[in-house]
Amino acid sequence: NDMLRWQRTGFHFQPEKNFQADPNAAMFYKGWYHFFYQYNPTGVAWDYTISWGHAVSKDLLHWNYLPMALRPDHWYDRKGVWSGYSTLLPDGRIVVLYTGGTKELVQVQNLAVPVNLSDPLLLEWKKSHVNPILVPPPGIEDHDFRDPFPVWYNESDSRWHVVIGSKDPEHYGIVLIYTTKDFVNFTLLPNILHSTKQPVGMLECVDLFPVATTDSRANQALDMTTMRPGPGLKYVLKASMDDERHDYYALGSFDLDSFTFTPDDETIDVGIGLRYDWGKFYASKTFYDQEKQRRVLWGYVGEVDSKRDDALKGWASLQNIPRTILFDTKTKSNLILWPVEEVESLRTINKNFNSIPLYPGSTYQLDVGEATQLDIVAEFEVDEKAIEATAEADVTYNCSTSGGAANRGVLGPFGLLVLANQELSEQTATYFYVSRGIDGNLRTHFCQDELRSSKAGAITKRVVGSTVPVLHGETWALRILVDHSIVESFAQRGRAVATSRVYPTEAIYSSARVFLFNNATDAIVTAKTVNVWHINSTYNHVFPGLVAP
Ligand code: FRU
Repeated sequence: NDMLRWQRTGFHFQPEKNFQADPNAAMFYKGWYHFFYQYNPTGVAWDYTISWGHAVSKDLLHWNYLPMALRPDHWYDRKGVWSGYSTLLPDGRIVVLYTGGTKELVQVQNLAVPVNLSDPLLLEWKKSHVNPILVPPPGIEDHDFRDPFPVWYNESDSRWHVVIGSKDPEHYGIVLIYTTKDFVNFTLLPNILHSTKQPVGMLECVDLFPVATTDSRANQALDMTTMRPGPGLKYVLKASMDDERHDYYALGSFDLDSFTFTPDDETIDVGIGLRYDWGKFYASKTFYDQEKQRRVLWGYVGEVDSKRDDALKGWASLQNIPRTILFDTKTKSNLILWPVEEVESLRTINKNFNSIPLYPGSTYQLDVGEATQLDIVAEFEVDEKAIEATAEADVTYNCSTSGGAANRGVLGPFGLLVLANQELSEQTATYFYVSRGIDGNLRTHFCQDELRSSKAGAITKRVVGSTVPVLHGETWALRILVDHSIVESFAQRGRAVATSRVYPTEAIYSSARVFLFNNATDAIVTAKTVNVWHINSTYNHVFPGLVAP
């Protein structure tokens, strides 16, 4: 039906059909970005036929679907070719390490390499005849040993370090370390890379990489495989929490001798502190793009509608628009995640609005035509007098328990309503809510309210978000990418991010609108500048010779 057809995105990565999940890293090789991902060629949900899909692109946006890279066809991956990492090694070799689900559902690690390194498309892959290269070591459960990642190469003894996520018997997340010279023979180190400070459970898709702490070094090559810890660098440890289904990161230091990661602040260790994304986003991986000297992040954004609708649509899950990752040199307490610059090349018609006063309790329609594929950049100012007049307010405010954009406070909520119908009975609200703490300081909450995003039943709807630093003299800034059934929002130029899947029933096709709103009771908010661009659809080609699943 029309409504479900409309939900397919215009510029996000989607296979032609069926289920996709974890990005299994990416690499730039001989002129192409290669993207690998968990893909089920046989259905719209995860099952034991999970495989590695493969696509190539010149710009991370327009994709060619290639034949699948890896399928479950050996005893050691009979129950699925699970996640892992594809890496271009500094010596020019390419290795894929992945977890296989064996016949008995033991998680083992396997090696695969391209058959022909001179083929820019890396069409053919061969699995090592010595697979599995690793089985769960003593003390580790058969189902707690997955997602290998070759993290660092030690030149002095020519050994690779490979990390693997797990958990200990007390339910603390741990990261095991192996060393290897040839990716065939491995040694388990007695120490671990990190053990979480709380019993957060199994760590999936562990990632570790450096970021530069000064702007001047930000764009230098920060390739983990060759980078040595030193001044001007911090390290990011990221893990996907199997219990909670969110991707957490911690900023910290990394010691090469002991091969350990130590968070700067134990109270915001991985699993309890910072998230890449406060909405729907999971099993992410970064890769180092040597072509543009940047680190790029991908995660998958699952469905929150019914399995029945997934079956009717014929597909499930999206990949977010790839995001560059930098350290925030202003706050020094978080990363900056931002859509890759290539997205800007998809911008077409632009509408610009300036200095629009938003009175308490008002909305303002942005006349932009059909509002289903948009890139919106907006900056707001809150009336100074209202801020000064506000004493302690909303000290305990929290996006997820707030009741959303309908709940009024003195200094918010204000922001945008996207994928809204004319009557606003369907809308996804992305907004700021400013409160004043007992210490007298202002706190800004950045929230995305899905509660009225769809009139359809059987959909999980939440209010997601977190606090976000707004520094002295800064405006409140939002960027929102709207693409049919996904809304990716960035606050304060990437300090906090929230992604939602939404399934409007009325705000679709030419009925989709976008509004500014201010639901504060006291403060006048000014939309200083709002830029709205329409975003072109990207094409996706099926490579000749691809056997349709
Ligand atoms: C994360 C995950 C990984 C696993 C893969 C299997 O979503 O559970 O830990 O390797 O999915 O598809």
